[in-house]
Amino acid sequence: MIFVAMLAGGIGTRMKLDKPKQFEIVGDKPILAHSIEKFLEVDEIDKIIVSSPESHITTTKDLIKNYFNDDSRIVVILGGETRNGTILNSIDYVKSNYNDGDHILITHDAPRIFVSPELIRKSIEELEDHDAASPVIPAVDVIFESKEKGKLTDIPLRKNLVHSQTPQSFKINKFLEIYQDLSEDEISKLDEAMMLFFLRDGNISLFEGDPSNFKITRKIDLKIAEAYLNE
Ligand code: CTP
Repeated sequence: MIFVAMLAGGIGTRMKLDKPKQFEIVGDKPILAHSIEKFLEVDEIDKIIVSSPESHITTTKDLIKNYFNDDSRIVVILGGETRNGTILNSIDYVKSNYNDGDHILITHDAPRIFVSPELIRKSIEELEDHDAASPVIPAVDVIFESKEKGKLTDIPLRKNLVHSQTPQSFKINKFLEIYQDLSEDEISKLDEAMMLFFLRDGNISLFEGDPSNFKITRKIDLKIAEAYLNE
């Protein structure tokens, strides 16, 4: 089966709103509703696991009721302390309810509302010959490494750098097999699923992402999203 971990367990500190950014209206609906809508367009997907911060479980459930009429393909779970914790909670949901089979999980950042059904399908297809897959786009800025504030510690060559995006996909059994082998230190470094596969030489596909699939992160991104919706 194919599951989506719709990551919405964060509180959007960089957005500086009075609520987590996933509930902010952009165009005619909340950010979270835009993203869910895109995934519902992909018939291959069996279930969308929407996570929520503990403080906003009711708000999240209300949103699913209002915008999707409690569609049976959508379920709401509690997010984790960190983004990776939320991914683990989503995997727990799958393992507790659908233990048999080698299921696929697609993780998606809810604030990437311009994700296309084509990109979602591409992420799934890449698993035919890989354990995990992530869309990427080339870095446009030179990126400095600065391990200490105000100090330049490295300048990686821009031509070698790409930004990762979501939807990222992977095989859940392979994820768990690697996870069981990680040290405490390695587990503490996990921020996203690809890190886990990278730490154990997993067979990861990086495929071409889409610049319009940006993550609404700061206030300026809300304006860009509104303008893009009005195109
Ligand atoms: N996320 C999550 N659970 C967490 C933290 C983050 O599911 N404990 C999700 C966010 O909801 C978001 C995605 O991970 O969809 C990407 O994270 P980011 O854009 O950093 O969102 P926030 O953590 O909400 O924002 P900020 O970093 O500004 O606080």
